[in-house]
Amino acid sequence: KLDSSLAVAKRDSFSSSFGVLAATLGSAVGLGNIWKFPYLTGANGGAGFLLVYVLATLLVGLPVMIAEIMLGRRAKTDSVGTFKKLAPGTPWWLIGGFGVIAAFLIMAFYSEVAAWVLAYVFKAIAGSALSSDPAHTSAAFSQLIHDPIQSLLWQWAVLVLIGGILLMGVSKGIEAVTKKLMPLLFILLVVVGVRSLLLPGAGEGLRFLFEPDFSKISASVVLTAMGLAFFKLSIGMGTMLTYGSYFRDDQNIPATTLRVMTADLFVSMLAGIAIFPAVFAFGFKPEAGPSLLFITIPAVFANMPLGHLFMVVFFVLSAIAATGAMLSILEVPVSVLSERFGWSRAKATVLTLLALMAIGATAALSNSVLSGFKLFGMTMFDLFDYVTSNVLMPIGGIMLCLFTGWVWGPQRFREALSNNGKLANQPVLSVLFLVTRWVSPLLILVVMLKGLGVF
Ligand code: PHE
Repeated sequence: KLDSSLAVAKRDSFSSSFGVLAATLGSAVGLGNIWKFPYLTGANGGAGFLLVYVLATLLVGLPVMIAEIMLGRRAKTDSVGTFKKLAPGTPWWLIGGFGVIAAFLIMAFYSEVAAWVLAYVFKAIAGSALSSDPAHTSAAFSQLIHDPIQSLLWQWAVLVLIGGILLMGVSKGIEAVTKKLMPLLFILLVVVGVRSLLLPGAGEGLRFLFEPDFSKISASVVLTAMGLAFFKLSIGMGTMLTYGSYFRDDQNIPATTLRVMTADLFVSMLAGIAIFPAVFAFGFKPEAGPSLLFITIPAVFANMPLGHLFMVVFFVLSAIAATGAMLSILEVPVSVLSERFGWSRAKATVLTLLALMAIGATAALSNSVLSGFKLFGMTMFDLFDYVTSNVLMPIGGIMLCLFTGWVWGPQRFREALSNNGKLANQPVLSVLFLVTRWVSPLLILVVMLKGLGVF
């Protein structure tokens, strides 16, 4: 078979079909659902933003994700090597190169949010952040992020933990961790959501989340929603190329992608239902920004029986969800470094993490010693968050669509996605191809340029 003859000798891969789904979902579901989705929805007007985000997921997210996994599986190598193999002697490998840069910048701020989550596990155990007084939960969070030593040490703890898991290898490390723990997160979110819905005044939160107010939608809001779609599905920066390379040849890529997308949206909705009723019931501001999760959730727990215990479990599960996502971000540079330069995985992992300690520190210290250091009016934390989702990943997405639509072509597209004709979905694939060739790249380009204020 073509696929296996292209494969690099002895690459690790996911060992079962369920493992593939769980690991891909493990990459998609993360702090994006419980931290970023609520904070962006809150800051950008609620339901209208949610609607645009869902549209972006369908029109742009889905086609890009399918194309990315498809190319990754075909080439079965790292994200730079994918294009060196599929289009030798062309500059398309730059897609992979930009992806590596994006991966570093995402990890730089993501590891800091994970650091807050980890710190909250301990705060939850100590019971110190648990309070239904908004002033108290806000103060607890700002005390943490304004302390440079704590911000930095928690981030290093996160990076060291992740390094340990990565060194165990793809299937054993990633698969084992994600497979066991995702279902628990779903269940806990349902519990918190139900509690939040029963708070007096919860209705206002639900209206905020589900009754669109289109006056809030501007070009930059649309760009933010599209950026969230990229970030959520881990696309446009090489993660899905790399995970695709671990996909089995008999895996149904479009069906797996659809399932991951649906489950991911579902988790975000649950997080929204857990957070927004509480925001309004306790008098928080929906536009609080990145602190939203950390100040509202403790207030919900403070109002429920066994709240102390549940809060510990909630932050432990959030930490685990963040882990699956971070493993998949790091997989991009680690696989490029080890397969391009022939380094051992151990060496590639250690050097990547050391580099991240340095770059990540600028994000970690963004609320304390470096709070005055701004580029384009943003701290390093905000800049990395903004630039990756709203510039780098969309550019990656455009290039992936162009490569798939114009270089890879309809014939190989249909072959690859139908597993050489074994899956009978040809008409759907023809439509999907046209969307990938024309609709998605043009849409991404227009939304990006307009949102950035270029025209
Ligand atoms: N999708 C992940 C989340 O929502 C973040 C992520 C982005 C993971 C890019 C991999 C690559 O948390």
